[in-house]
Amino acid sequence: MLNITHQTEEAAQYVQSLWPKRPAAGIILGSGLGDLANDIEQAELIDYASIPHFPRSTALGHEGRLVCGYLAGMPVITMQGRFHFYEGYSLHELTMPVRVMNTLGIGLLIVSNAAGGINPNFSAGDVMIIQDHINLIGGPATASPGDDGQADDRIATYSCCREATYDSGAIDVAQQVARRANFVAQLGVYAAQRGPNYETRAEYRYLRRIGVDAVGMSTAPEALVAAGEGVRVLGLSAITNICLPDALDETTGEGVIETAAQAAEKMRRIVFGILDSLSTA
Ligand code: HPA
Repeated sequence: MLNITHQTEEAAQYVQSLWPKRPAAGIILGSGLGDLANDIEQAELIDYASIPHFPRSTALGHEGRLVCGYLAGMPVITMQGRFHFYEGYSLHELTMPVRVMNTLGIGLLIVSNAAGGINPNFSAGDVMIIQDHINLIGGPATASPGDDGQADDRIATYSCCREATYDSGAIDVAQQVARRANFVAQLGVYAAQRGPNYETRAEYRYLRRIGVDAVGMSTAPEALVAAGEGVRVLGLSAITNICLPDALDETTGEGVIETAAQAAEKMRRIVFGILDSLSTA
């Protein structure tokens, strides 16, 4: 069995054989946010199933392919469909696409998700820029041996005492984009829990107490791996429901996907603004 570095290289070589460009950014599209891929020009579609060693997508509202091409004039590689811990993937498997995108040369990862708003000042349809996260999925996404049982060189070099996981320069640009376009972009702490169930009322209270503004079931593993590999990370949450413990609405997967579409336009503007800032940097 190949270790994770070799698997990553084979997968990257395959993608490069079909799309021989160097992507400036990688974009992970969360639940209900996949439509952004329709804006990609000169798109090369690569099904996950065709990529050596790649996991397969099974979650509601997720396609399963890479869409490579140009967005705001910049070469990007987009994941239309992501992998979740609750689907049964190991943390290594579900973060493997991030390693592949890094091997292909991304300098920035934009990672999006649908999330429940724990902060009572948030509204459904808001976008939250992730300032930091609390990883309740657990680890280690970034520090375990390759499949051959040998410590993997690339993973072993991750430091536990890094700079901030989410890039402050990218956060500033995202806030400026929202201000100029006249919409509110919230800023806050994202908690990643394992899922697939939504939280109990007691869990919502607990999350608020520990400083969480929005909760979802993804993003932290991918952000940790990207930052560990030296890639700048911008995280964006579409707030799909407000989690008031004493006035709970029923949260359903279908409802989450519908409301995510309302936040999608704001997210689209932020993504375009960030890519514009890369092209002029
Ligand atoms: N909890 C966890 N994940 C979510 C939620 C939620 O309330 N809404 C969208 N994703």
